[in-house]
Amino acid sequence: LKVAALIPAAGFGTRLGQGPKAYLDLGGLSLLARSVAALAPHVDEVVVALPEGFALPEGIPARVVIGGATRQASVLALLRATDAEVVLIHDAARPFLPPEVIRTVRTAAAETGAATAALPVADTLVRGQGQASALWGELTARENLWAVQTPQGFRRELLLSAHLEAEQGGIQATDDAGLVARLGLPVVLIPGDARLFKVTTPSDLALARALVVVWDA
Ligand code: C5P
Repeated sequence: LKVAALIPAAGFGTRLGQGPKAYLDLGGLSLLARSVAALAPHVDEVVVALPEGFALPEGIPARVVIGGATRQASVLALLRATDAEVVLIHDAARPFLPPEVIRTVRTAAAETGAATAALPVADTLVRGQGQASALWGELTARENLWAVQTPQGFRRELLLSAHLEAEQGGIQATDDAGLVARLGLPVVLIPGDARLFKVTTPSDLALARALVVVWDA
């Protein structure tokens, strides 16, 4: 079974304000280099979506496609760029990838068609209300709630049809497993890892800079 890792890395990192996040340095390696290095041993090829006009830094073993205006468009471009039977989609913005999570997602995707890393929610969850959502609104039972992460694994044909349906229906999703679930198909939840957090805000970056010291040791 041919397996490809597909990495959407075509975002501009607007919330962090330091240029495309994929190029951000973390302990001497970019976020993108870290994701590629973690995934490459588990797959037959790695394909990365970059913003137009950006190049892959030297020494990163991957192919490049130009990303789209949204994450979803970038993933669709990646899906069209490979003939692998199984694809692992992973955000470049999540640089800490435990090998065990990659292996488990990969196996479940090949067996069932769709699987994602996800973390059981530990905090109390409440919907904000009022101006700027700054007041305590409705409480949500956290029982059986999971925070969805990547990597997410799929049979490529299945994810491609989910994307084409979404495109036709004008549906925008922030993740791929959601598009598959929308079709009424099962998605297996694989216990992820707190270290798989997405570097989005300056405080995430501070966490990542602290963690990388231990991770690389
Ligand atoms: O912006 P956010 O953190 O949600 O992006 C998640 C991932 O999707 C990042 O790795 C980012 O580079 C990627 N992305 C993309 N194309 C876009 C927007 C985001 O590949 N147009």
